[in-house]
Amino acid sequence: MMFSSHEIYGKLYMNTRIIREGNCVAERKFLAMDNKNSNKRIWQKIFRLLPPRQKLRFLWILAILVFSAVLSQLTPLAVGYLTDHILADQSVTFPSVLPVLLMILLVNVANEIIKVARRLIVEDTATQAEKTARQRASASLLTAPLSYFRNSMTGNIHGRLNRSLEGTVKLVKLLFMDFAPAVTTGLAAIVTIFLRLPVPVACLVVLVIPVGTFLVFRQISTQKGIRVELMETRADMDGTMVELLGGIETIRTLDSAQTEENRILDRSEHLREKEMRHHKAMAFYDCLKFINEAVFSVLVIGISVLLASHGIISIGTVLTAYLCFTQLTGPLRELHRILDEFSECVVLANDYFRLLELPTDFSYLPDAAADPDQTVVRNISKGCPAKTEALQNMSARQPAPAANDIRVRGVRFAYPEKPDQPILNNIDLEIPAGAFMGIAGPSGCGKSTLIKVIDKLEQAEGEVLLGGRNLSSLSRSALAESVALVPQTPFLVADTIYNNICYGMKREVALEEVKDAARKANIAADIEQFPGGYEFPVAESGANLSGGQRQRIALARIFLRRPRILILDEATSALDNTSEKLIQSEIEKLKEKYGMTVLSIAHRLTTLKNCDEIIVMDKGQIVQKGKFDELEATPGIFRDMALGLLK
Ligand SMILES: Nc1ncnc2c1ncn2[C@@H]1O[C@H](COP(=O)(O)OP(=O)(O)O)[C@@H](O)[C@H]1O
Ligand SMILES: [Mg+2]
Repeated sequence: MMFSSHEIYGKLYMNTRIIREGNCVAERKFLAMDNKNSNKRIWQKIFRLLPPRQKLRFLWILAILVFSAVLSQLTPLAVGYLTDHILADQSVTFPSVLPVLLMILLVNVANEIIKVARRLIVEDTATQAEKTARQRASASLLTAPLSYFRNSMTGNIHGRLNRSLEGTVKLVKLLFMDFAPAVTTGLAAIVTIFLRLPVPVACLVVLVIPVGTFLVFRQISTQKGIRVELMETRADMDGTMVELLGGIETIRTLDSAQTEENRILDRSEHLREKEMRHHKAMAFYDCLKFINEAVFSVLVIGISVLLASHGIISIGTVLTAYLCFTQLTGPLRELHRILDEFSECVVLANDYFRLLELPTDFSYLPDAAADPDQTVVRNISKGCPAKTEALQNMSARQPAPAANDIRVRGVRFAYPEKPDQPILNNIDLEIPAGAFMGIAGPSGCGKSTLIKVIDKLEQAEGEVLLGGRNLSSLSRSALAESVALVPQTPFLVADTIYNNICYGMKREVALEEVKDAARKANIAADIEQFPGGYEFPVAESGANLSGGQRQRIALARIFLRRPRILILDEATSALDNTSEKLIQSEIEKLKEKYGMTVLSIAHRLTTLKNCDEIIVMDKGQIVQKGKFDELEATPGIFRDMALGLLK
């Protein structure tokens, strides 16, 4: 199945939270890392995006540019020559003019062909840069601290990435397709002017450049702020739109479409006003620039005609002077647009590199013991591909834990966004290998947070040991190999059912194996009813499946993965009792067969009936422990929940 880049990025951002979660230290670093990126280093960074072979092509482009600029000078010179040496002759015949005309034609055709070649080379370089830039940005985003995603709207990041990527690529194209040709042609024209015209006239002709450039820079400096503002407003609008589309059903049930429409209308009007202010200023400066050009062209024609009438220069030189002047004003006119677009693209490219330089989440960083000389950390901070390589090397060095007991000692945690509100308060827990442990407690008491800490999604104070190994010494891949976490809201990709069940598997999986997993997760019968069966395309976020079907697909993954530690976070909350029981008995079989440790959070207490032990949490603390029947018989939170007195 093919996805557009927008779709792919939309999915990646939406679900990075599920792939891996947050970090407070890295976040503080990120927030401090504001607009420090200097424009000076932007070219260096873009250059580094290109593979070495592509870098060599710049020499080719440069050679083509110089050659093309020289060729461009031949036409004005030929026209001057034609006027002075052939047309001045009383007995001029067509055949005597023909060679010069043919040469003009030939030079112009050759120049166009050269431009096509330059364009192809530039486009090839730009598309290469785009490919690498996109890959690096996704690598950077997928390993960024989760707090970054919590602080930014999905649509905003999405829009920001696409626009900044476009800007970065456009910067490369602008440089080689517009700016460099304008400069080389302009320089060649200046040389011709000084060679052919008396110095005072030549100086007058080139005076159009400083005046024009002054106007361009005034224009850019007055408009710079507004460009960034427009860009940010558009990114915010993207964010709002994606947020709204995500809540389309709620908007319908609350009948708030009109309110949302008005809100968008207000913001669009605000954006429109800003844009109009910008366009008015641009029109004013454009007008000044054309007046500048007109005044100088009158001066150039007037003065060179005057000189010719006094016999100081020839008539042919008048023509050469004017044609050279147009060769200056042509690029100069372009230069306005180019520099203008440049300033916008530099803002965008800086934004792109800011995305690329996002800090790496703590869970990817090795602990000090595993990386004593900090080489991995240094390579990670260098960015891709050093980052990807460093992460892979580190994973290879760290095998998954051999045992599967869980120990939690003195764990304290608060979300970085709310540092004064402790969510976990001195948690101690021992789960023997192969045990089935339940976690119960009122909503918001910190159950999900605790398992996020155990799966290294959040960084907490205290100690967590998996199979005797400290969590900080376990790489993400070692963790993924031994721990499976099934969240309440599973992550489904817009792909086939087959690929959704196999999601995250590092090996080829036969259809029969997938079918067996689906049967154990009690979803096989549903899948067979779908058109195309296992090839049925799941919509974005599983929108064409029921909540229970989504959960069962996520549960089917367990039977393929056969993790050593299984963590279920209300993973069966949307299932009916029969379905839940069937799946539970399959999970128990798996547990018996492989000695799997199971940690299960459940709001529906009956889910925990077969647990070896249940811990009951309240306000970030463990307040009760015991078997189901014992807890049910003891006054306390568990009994209140069982009696329906507590939610
Ligand atoms: N990403 C987050 N950022 C800030 N606070 C959060 C975040 N996730 C959860 N919380 C807060 O942490 C507390 C515990 O949440 P959670 O662990 O999800 O509870 P439970 O799973 O027991 O219902 C809640 O008060 C919730 O508001
Ligand atoms: Mg929860």
